[in-house]
Amino acid sequence: MKNILVTGAAGFIGANFIKYMLARHEDVKIIILDKLTYAGNFKTIADDIDGRRCFFIHGDICDEDCTDRIFTEHEPDCVVNFAAESHVDRSIEDPQLFLKTNILGTQNLLDTSKRHWVTGKDDNGRPIWRKHVRFHQVSTDEVYGSLGSEGFFTENTPLCPHSPYSASKASADMFVQAYADTYGMPVSITRCSNNYGPYHFPEKLIPLIINNILEGKKLPVYGDGTNVRDWLYVEDHCKAIDMVINSPEAEGQTYNVGGHNEKQNIEIVKLVIRTIHDLMQQNPEYRRLLPDGDKGADLINDSLITFVKDRLGHDKRYAIDPSKITRDLGWTPETRFEDGIVKTIQWYLDNRTWVEDVTKGEYRHYYEQMYKDR
Ligand code: NAD
Ligand code: TYD
Repeated sequence: MKNILVTGAAGFIGANFIKYMLARHEDVKIIILDKLTYAGNFKTIADDIDGRRCFFIHGDICDEDCTDRIFTEHEPDCVVNFAAESHVDRSIEDPQLFLKTNILGTQNLLDTSKRHWVTGKDDNGRPIWRKHVRFHQVSTDEVYGSLGSEGFFTENTPLCPHSPYSASKASADMFVQAYADTYGMPVSITRCSNNYGPYHFPEKLIPLIINNILEGKKLPVYGDGTNVRDWLYVEDHCKAIDMVINSPEAEGQTYNVGGHNEKQNIEIVKLVIRTIHDLMQQNPEYRRLLPDGDKGADLINDSLITFVKDRLGHDKRYAIDPSKITRDLGWTPETRFEDGIVKTIQWYLDNRTWVEDVTKGEYRHYYEQMYKDR
């Protein structure tokens, strides 16, 4: 049995990952460590926790006592580190929190793993590692900075982060690499483009737009809406991580993960408007979700879009070259964007209680503050 410590699994991608792993691998035990910040929702994973194949520990990746106890009790042989402060806009408001969680938290996990996985030293004083262990860092294409209108990020693109979020993620990646180079730690890193899918917190573009449409609010597009992101369905990201942690040849490697699906933000917003409009026409049940019912459904059109003040330091374009992971491990994305976006929107229409749960507390205050001067 493989014992995997998955940090941040009450959040968007981590939750999708544990569901993906539990559904596909009988022989896996998952230990979730999550601090349940505003972005973590216990209810998302409650049904997966059975005390046999899946365990939950409420704690902080920065807390050495906590991570030590988990290693003693559960003896993970793999760590997949999703836990992070993940929103660029929040990092612009409060950079220090991003340093604490994303850099110091990762370093604490690396250190704990090293304490428990090193079995001795060789004649040259180099650590001897337990066999078949792996520390996997979930990173982002944002560490490469921004592209002009041409070209793609490859694994050899120099790190050039611009936002406090991406600077903290780049720093964490460098610590992971430093533990590999200095102590010979078995590590891997994946750098993925923007994910979309179920359980995405509605502070990020796609779920925010869906949620605002359902609440009858305006749709804020930063700047002129021409910034480009490269979108990947979350399950395809999960598949990539599964392949990387289970491939011995991936040890010591970094892989870019993306589906060649570049879109301008304004295209995404218009597509979400169109899709919700069409779903509302097809299904009267969905119209009941709107504050003004049938009347509200007729108002779902591009006039909801409002161009607002741009994000500071807004990266212009991200685009991933995923050819290394395709060549080395045979990974390819399975979900076409046209299908994934409909599946995602339908999930949000069918799961209003989840959205209401995660947006009823701190989110209201956040939204007012973040968008009031825009
Ligand atoms: P998220 O914000 O939805 O979830 C983060 C989770 O981490 C939450 O459950 C939160 O409670 C937990 N967490 C935060 N601080 C913690 C701490 N100190 N200790 C323990 N748990 C803590 O994030 P996400 O979108 O699922 O992203 C997951 C990872 O993937 C992040 O590392 C992010 O940088 C990376 N990533 C995200 C995207 C994307 O499009 N969302 C793309 C590429 C990479
Ligand atoms: P986001 O989902 O925050 O992801 P990231 O900044 O990590 O790529 O934003 C995606 C794009 O959408 C980004 O270019 C900023 C833009 N955006 C808006 O135009 N309006 C919004 O309200 C949000 C949250 C993002």
